[in-house]
Amino acid sequence: MSTVITCIEDLRVLAERRVPRMFYDYADSGSWTESTYRANTTDFAKIKFRQRVAVNMDNRTLATTMIGQPVSMPMAIAPTGMTGMQHADGEILAARAAAKAGIPFTLSTMSICSLEDVAEHAGSSFWFQLYVMRDREFTGNLIDRAKKAGCSALVLTLDLQILGQRHKDLKNGLSAPPKPTLANLINLATKLRWCKAMLGTRRRTFGNIVGHAKGVDDMSSLSSWTADQFDASLSWDDVAWIKDRWGGKLILKGIIDPVDAELAVKSGADALIVSNHGGRQLDGALTAIEALPPIVDAVGSRIEVHMDSGIRSGQDVLKAIALGAKGTYIGRAFLYGLGAMGEEGVTTAIEIIRKELDLTMAFCGLRDINLVDGKIIAR
Ligand code: GLV
Repeated sequence: MSTVITCIEDLRVLAERRVPRMFYDYADSGSWTESTYRANTTDFAKIKFRQRVAVNMDNRTLATTMIGQPVSMPMAIAPTGMTGMQHADGEILAARAAAKAGIPFTLSTMSICSLEDVAEHAGSSFWFQLYVMRDREFTGNLIDRAKKAGCSALVLTLDLQILGQRHKDLKNGLSAPPKPTLANLINLATKLRWCKAMLGTRRRTFGNIVGHAKGVDDMSSLSSWTADQFDASLSWDDVAWIKDRWGGKLILKGIIDPVDAELAVKSGADALIVSNHGGRQLDGALTAIEALPPIVDAVGSRIEVHMDSGIRSGQDVLKAIALGAKGTYIGRAFLYGLGAMGEEGVTTAIEIIRKELDLTMAFCGLRDINLVDGKIIAR
């Protein structure tokens, strides 16, 4: 491969080479047949723009807001589990890159670096994503910890109280840190850059949980932890007490149906994220870009509608904005950058997408992201 990185796919190829198999696979996979995972990107590709010519394309701006907070472009870093296993200290590095780029970083409950650690080392405020555990005391404490860490929004995930099966994770025996099996040791021996960085950090397991949840000293297996601890009975009543306890900006993640979007509006949240969890939960669900327009119609201007699942380029961001999203999120696109080149790779991923978004908007005849609407889409 040429060393000139020009697109997210270049970063993916490099990450696949540098990140141990089980963690690369964890990021780059969907549930069951992966049909929804694949459709998330192929559905974006079906949407076509209307190109305009001979209109003034000088002096363009991508700056806007998400939940009232200024952003340099309508894109945030999505919460992703085990980010600190794609690269040592991954959450801190990604949070720093996001802060420098002027976009929000969302820390997952299932991060390797803890809330407190990211608050101390990232140099900027961030958003915190919450999973609801059966242990309500622990869940409530997580909310309080996010408040104390200065997080400026809580992203409550509603589509993962049970886990969609990802075949590769079972086959690879996914755990953090990896178990010293022969297969893992052979694979790690080919990832010396990753190993060297990982030996230089003490952050190698789930930082928000180990040492905080009762009786949890070792919870290396994500799937068994999820099955045992995530609350399968999660309901809208929980949204109410969580909103109350948090008291700040609340974003509900994982909405894919207009009926649930209406309930999200009624819950008093500030925004919802149209998402199928990157094709990692219900295999056979609608794609997020397909589900977006009816949800935007149902919600109107009552709360902000954001979207994730399938965004790999600035063209994708522009399509989502044109179809009514106020903001978007990248998950794998930044993880590939992180796995490929650490903080510099996340910066590269963000800047690749920023440039694509800027030029594509101009090709569509617009100079201000806030003026983008459905008219730029060819029908
Ligand atoms: C967790 O959020 C996952 O999708 O693995």
